[in-house]
Amino acid sequence: MKKIRIIETAFRDAHQSLMATRMRTRDMLPIAEEMDKVGYFSLESWGGATFDTCIRYLNEDPWERLRQLKEIVTKTPLQMLLRGQNLVGYKHYSDDIVRKFVEKSYENGIDVFRIFDALNDIRNMEMAIKVAKEQDAHVQATISYTVSPYHTNKSFVELAQKLEELGCDSVGVKDMAGLISPYDTYDLIKALKEETNLMVNLHCHCTSGMTPMSYYTACEAGVDLLDTAISPLSWGVSQPPTESIVAALKNTPYDTGLDLKFLKKIKEYFEEIREKYSSLIDPISEKIDTDVLIYQIPGGMLSNFVSQLKNQNALDRYEDVVKEVPRVRKDLGYPPLVTPTSQIVGIQAVLNVLNGERYGNVTKEVKEYIKGFYGRPPAPINDEVVHKIIGDEERITVRPADLLEPQLEKCRKEAEEKGIVKKEEDVLTYALYPQVAVKFLRGETEEEELKPPEDTSDKDEPGIPTEYAVNVDGEVYDVKITPVGYMEIEPNQDKVPRGSVEGGVSTTMQGMILKLKVKKGDQVNAGDVVAVLEAMKMENDVNATQSGTVEQVYFDEGDTVEAGDVLMVIK
Ligand code: CO
Repeated sequence: MKKIRIIETAFRDAHQSLMATRMRTRDMLPIAEEMDKVGYFSLESWGGATFDTCIRYLNEDPWERLRQLKEIVTKTPLQMLLRGQNLVGYKHYSDDIVRKFVEKSYENGIDVFRIFDALNDIRNMEMAIKVAKEQDAHVQATISYTVSPYHTNKSFVELAQKLEELGCDSVGVKDMAGLISPYDTYDLIKALKEETNLMVNLHCHCTSGMTPMSYYTACEAGVDLLDTAISPLSWGVSQPPTESIVAALKNTPYDTGLDLKFLKKIKEYFEEIREKYSSLIDPISEKIDTDVLIYQIPGGMLSNFVSQLKNQNALDRYEDVVKEVPRVRKDLGYPPLVTPTSQIVGIQAVLNVLNGERYGNVTKEVKEYIKGFYGRPPAPINDEVVHKIIGDEERITVRPADLLEPQLEKCRKEAEEKGIVKKEEDVLTYALYPQVAVKFLRGETEEEELKPPEDTSDKDEPGIPTEYAVNVDGEVYDVKITPVGYMEIEPNQDKVPRGSVEGGVSTTMQGMILKLKVKKGDQVNAGDVVAVLEAMKMENDVNATQSGTVEQVYFDEGDTVEAGDVLMVIK
């Protein structure tokens, strides 16, 4: 009897999709032992955006999370999502860094490596696959699924066959936006089963609402592995509910063998977690939205747009941005929208809309993408756009990482000079996130505050809250305050100027200052790059608005700025 095995995504994709990847390790560990007993094929619990979020927002060492989970989860394989040559970052790393990262991931507890490339460019996956195989790990090479005139079942099967030749153990279909329809699923899974000898996995998000049907046709077509999320963390832009899929397949040839009564305990635990993190769950990310079938925008990206546009005070442009995305995607040769191409296409769409001129302002990443540094796009890039953005600059056709010198020892030296290396993994953390890692490894990162769930029982008296949840070292205490007097609140005197200041260079986006290229007293010409801002994980140049002398600089590298902040004044 054919058995379908379940991959539970609660510790990675589900909270990445619904809760901005903010689940803390201390909220995973208490249930890990129970989850280990269920009988899942694997627990997806590391990689993707979790690494970045740990060091950027949670003041958590991702390597420590992995080790702690591994200590408890002894039977079920731990799985990670690895972005090929991008690892858990947003750009290509040199082969020696890829090697070391995969080795260390395995050593610290990863058993299953799910490896993909946003462009389905196999050259970007080869190195990670090779090293993971050397470790004797299970390698699940994954196809980034998308729909375009250039993506056919034939092209997907050919890709899978090449991945099989590389020695992969299974092939995954990664449907980030929940685009795949039930009958397309049937045809694709059937073709993959017939044309390869690999186990086949299907990973879908529920965004369009078709996913449970697609999971069923996948079963009929012979799928081996299905990704699901325990029900409190399911639906919307996350995976289908584990319990529903288990129940639907019970006593059929596709029975998962999992026990619903057992899953109930896990569900109850995650119901509390969901409540605890409810302030992070955007209602949009919970909705079913067939518009994704028109715009092909993955769920995670939609919820990012909402929060980013809110930060830019431009939420009213949401619809325009959503419509601009497919146009940018077509211009750029129909890349599947998954990290990092979802960010590359997404932020360019935002810039095209907010600046009023398409490609008038272009991120460094779009330039590099066009030059070929992310790999081979599925289709040719629009010539006019190429010309407008890079003119006659050269484009590469080799494997991008072939152009990268070994970086590991250089990173090690730099990190040691900064005094931030306590263990080998710290060198990798630094290599992947040089800015964020320094702050984190120096112990200067503060855990982002988790807003308590909204109290809906007493809504008619707004005003100053008198009940607080105080977080002391991870323990949350409820504190009630009885007002006995009033204090005067002084306006902040050394506030950074905002809006229009004569000679002021202000930001159009919220983000972090990666580089300041000028200091007080420097001469600049209009158009010079004076700072580099990291917004939505992409680098954006900030240009001088006029020629003159830099009279004042209000920020340092590493500072976070709001949209409209004046960075500096040029007179
Ligand atoms: Co996913």
